[in-house]
Amino acid sequence: MAINQGPDTQRIREDWSLRGKHWDQRADEVSKFADRFNAPLIGAAGISAGHHVLDMATGAGEPMMTVASLVGPSGSVLATDLVPEMLEGARRRVQASGLENVAFRVNDMCELPDADGSFDRAICRFGLMFVSDPVKAASEARRVLKPGGQVAYLVWGPRADTTMFEVFAEAADEIWGLDDPLIDLETMCRLGGKGTMEGILRDAGFDVVDERELRFDSKMPGELEFWHAQIDMSFGPKMDAATPDEQARAREVVRDKFQKYLKDGAYHMTAHVRIGAATKT
Ligand SMILES: C[S@@+](CC[C@H](N)C(=O)[O-])C[C@H]1O[C@@H](n2cnc3c(N)ncnc32)[C@H](O)[C@@H]1O
Repeated sequence: MAINQGPDTQRIREDWSLRGKHWDQRADEVSKFADRFNAPLIGAAGISAGHHVLDMATGAGEPMMTVASLVGPSGSVLATDLVPEMLEGARRRVQASGLENVAFRVNDMCELPDADGSFDRAICRFGLMFVSDPVKAASEARRVLKPGGQVAYLVWGPRADTTMFEVFAEAADEIWGLDDPLIDLETMCRLGGKGTMEGILRDAGFDVVDERELRFDSKMPGELEFWHAQIDMSFGPKMDAATPDEQARAREVVRDKFQKYLKDGAYHMTAHVRIGAATKT
């Protein structure tokens, strides 16, 4: 199947290495909102106690930490990411949590160094869209799963369906211009079309495949400036390069763009994510 040409891996590596510290700083704060995405992903992968799980594109640690608790001491999680900087927050959080069933490794999910049939389950939350060849990544996941093993990927739906992206696209365009390579919202949503995940999984050799659509409506309290964490995680490298005045203006532009979603004392937000899941028969 045809999917948009993916980003260059070296550019992605450079980009995410600049974001590690921002994700680490915000990881504990955003983990409070992780469950709405984690629960359906973990459910679609059929993860339970005792499973040995590969987490791809772990970033600062969710859903990996939740999965490590779920599989318990008889199970394990191998937390992997393309860049060491993104794993720093995850390492810190695992150490603080006392979890002892997590190991870490830096690798590209398109080239897994594991033997065939190494894992019961494989998962990836918000990572596959950054991969130049998602079919290759899914083929690798299939190879390292045991027979009967399951994989599940969570990706963003089309940009217009998620309020945060619409606001950020408008704001970033006003502040920096959307053609800046560090403002890459197109890549973020590139696998969000209906049927895209199903096609990738079938092309990767899976014959038992399921694609689900999940839409969320949420209300954030009007007095809460909830967007600062997302600004840092999305635009951290741009903010680092900006002067304090430019940074303040960027935060002001984002706040102003959110105002049209404020009704009856709350920000009304929507989000659309898709899950592609498959079983190795
Ligand atoms: C949006 S973050 C997601 C992190 C975490 N899974 C979460 O949901 O919060 C995307 C992550 O994908 C990683 N990544 C990008 N390309 C990758 C690849 N080819 N292999 C493994 N990880 C990759 C990045 O380094 C980054 O940590």
